Amino acid sequence: MQVPSHPPRPVMPQCPPQHMLKGQKALVTGAGSGIGRAIALALGQAGADVIVNYVSGAETAEQVATEIRAYGAQAMPIRADVSDEDQVRTMFGNAIEAFGTIDILVNNAGLQQDAAFEDMSLAQWNKVIGVNLTGQFLCAREAVREFKRRGVKPDVSCAAGKILCISSVHEVIPWAGHVNYAASKGGVMLMMKSLAQEVAPYRIRVNSICPGAIRTPINMEAWDTPEAYQELLKLIPYKRIGEPDEIGRAAVWLASDYADYVHGISLFVDGGMTLYPGFETGG
Ligand code: BGC
Repeated sequence: MQVPSHPPRPVMPQCPPQHMLKGQKALVTGAGSGIGRAIALALGQAGADVIVNYVSGAETAEQVATEIRAYGAQAMPIRADVSDEDQVRTMFGNAIEAFGTIDILVNNAGLQQDAAFEDMSLAQWNKVIGVNLTGQFLCAREAVREFKRRGVKPDVSCAAGKILCISSVHEVIPWAGHVNYAASKGGVMLMMKSLAQEVAPYRIRVNSICPGAIRTPINMEAWDTPEAYQELLKLIPYKRIGEPDEIGRAAVWLASDYADYVHGISLFVDGGMTLYPGFETGG
């Protein structure tokens, strides 16, 4: 294997947080709403130019782009279904044509199609695996091709590129009634780690963020009534739901050179949901 040589110690950025990603080009999938929207806004606020990928809801994606432009960064919505190879290729081609390159991929697009196991249709299984897992593979593959083509540009970043996979606490917590979703996130975990091992010599950093319960439309049933919210808190030692911008801030740090030695990790941002909360009072 041909491994490129690099300076042993990268120069760390000395800059205020709003410039942490200055000059970098990011592509965020599923950025029209929820966690993806918050990440796209946070990256824009940190100085990155952002491709706002969406599959439906052109107007809301345009609103996200408008908000990013207000921070002084460039933003461009691009429609693409991440589970479709041709659409992903076209999206990356257009993004690279517009911005010159991509430095940061945030593999965020994801969905749930819940069902009791015996009632789960093959279509529900395939849809969730297709978007949540295959979609992350297709986008990461295009990103790795671009990162390897370009290599390290030290004035932009210590790394040739960064991939953030938005996984879930359910990459490790089994989830009855959501077998397709948990399987997709378990797959993301080992895809991310295996890819991280493979591309590290090229200075490509690959990590995951694993959100717990975050206040977005995907899990509204779990927080939009007081009764549901009380039930939800039983699963969260920190006793509150998370907000989308808390994932945005984690993404900025993980994508920045401040995290240059952080590679192949699953960063849980979950108020302690992975701490076996059932043992809080017993065991
Ligand atoms: C799911 C949410 C859920 C959370 C914690 C997320 O990955 O999308 O619906 O509330 O995990 O269980």
